[in-house]
Amino acid sequence: MSTNVIAPPAIVSRAQAVDTKAVQALDSAHYIHAFTDHGDLATRGARVMTHAEGIYVWDSEGKKVLDGMSGLWCVNAGYGRKELADAAYQQMMTLPYYNSFFQTTNVPAAKLAAKLASLAPKVGDRSFDHVFYSSSGSESNDTNVRMVRRYWDLLGQPQRKTIIGRVNGYHGSTMAGASLGGMSGMHAQGDLPIPNILHIEQPYYLENALPGESEADFGVRAAGWLEAKILEVGPDKVAAFIGEPVQGAGGVIIPPATYWPEIQRIVDKYGILLISDEVICAFGRLGHWFAYEKLGYKPDLVTFAKGVTSGYVPLGGVMVGNRVAKVLIEQGGEFNHGYTYSGHPVACAVALANLELMERDNLVGRVKDDIGPYLAKQFEKLNAHPLVGHAQTSGFVGGMLLVKNKETGETYDSDLAVGMMCRGHCFSNGLIMRAVGDRMIIAPPLIMTHAQIDEMMALIVKCLDLTLADLRKRGL
Ligand SMILES: Cc1ncc(COP(=O)(O)O)c(C=O)c1O
Repeated sequence: MSTNVIAPPAIVSRAQAVDTKAVQALDSAHYIHAFTDHGDLATRGARVMTHAEGIYVWDSEGKKVLDGMSGLWCVNAGYGRKELADAAYQQMMTLPYYNSFFQTTNVPAAKLAAKLASLAPKVGDRSFDHVFYSSSGSESNDTNVRMVRRYWDLLGQPQRKTIIGRVNGYHGSTMAGASLGGMSGMHAQGDLPIPNILHIEQPYYLENALPGESEADFGVRAAGWLEAKILEVGPDKVAAFIGEPVQGAGGVIIPPATYWPEIQRIVDKYGILLISDEVICAFGRLGHWFAYEKLGYKPDLVTFAKGVTSGYVPLGGVMVGNRVAKVLIEQGGEFNHGYTYSGHPVACAVALANLELMERDNLVGRVKDDIGPYLAKQFEKLNAHPLVGHAQTSGFVGGMLLVKNKETGETYDSDLAVGMMCRGHCFSNGLIMRAVGDRMIIAPPLIMTHAQIDEMMALIVKCLDLTLADLRKRGL
């Protein structure tokens, strides 16, 4: 199969002459960043990104960096896509904004809903003919909480309030999103989770398997934690279970193949709704338009955002399966919920152009049959590196655990922040890789060629070598 099916995107912008220090001063004086320690930031100054093209981004000092994270898991189609800028411009000149409240719609919102419905595979008795729009993954998960509760109220079971998520899952940063997620650092700030949201352990084999337990057995046992929690709460009180197909922000935790089918069996047994949060995993990231198809389960609601526009403009939403849509539409009357930017015409027009581009360039099929398997083969070679405990990919996400002892899997003292050490080497050497504790993770744009994967892998090996050399110098 050809490795060069995609022409490099046109260069649409060049580095402006940017006064880095002046921008950093403005930034430091006025801008409160997301997920940032501002005391720390003030001492070093923010990195100022100026432009991007294909799989590369540049900073204000002229440094070119291979973006191994697609921005924040979103620039699936790569940077510099003129088609997407044109779609935004055309729509802004035609109808830049109108709302979807009060029985009103617009052309791109209606067309996109139909397009998304056509892309979402029907599984068993479940089809996804309806879409609710928001502007982000977090908002979409707030919508899920509202929708799930409304569904059970309409069915005369208002006591079904509890939603079960997972430790180390990530579902966004709003009150509901952060509560559904299982990030202890987020729960520690602002009295989270909100009531009626509970968590079970994550299906992380390296951390939670018993000695000698096979991955397959572990997958079934980990799913069993859901059944135990349902029985503890009382099955008639549980509304839904939410999970990411592959946990992203938690460190690219790929569950055993047995996990999701067993989760499906359990939610079916108790009649509980299943929410698949595919904010990262949809739109080709795992080699399918939607990841539930790959992992073999039948969700009722699917959260999406990020890749639907390749991150060029904010758009999110929920694919509403027929089980829920039928009740909401036929029995619900007015659903008192929505956002000013639900169905924003510019966002929807850009999404339509993005999906068209992805279809034209076969980006999803390439991940499934070509660059995904190629990346897997190269990434798994990292398992031979002395610092790597376990390296694995799924589609176009990958994660590896940095360890002190390959034989025992012992990790370094967390105070050493080995992941951050490695991440520092990555950026200095022209690669963006993210550190989640001692897990190093990637989610590159889906347009990569084999040669670019090789380039990325060489950088990864170099940065692992540099990290190991640092540790050895300190006698660690
Ligand atoms: C699985 C998942 N859900 C929800 C979100 C929240 O999305 P947003 O940051 O657009 O609110 C994210 C963001 O990374 C995510 O990875």
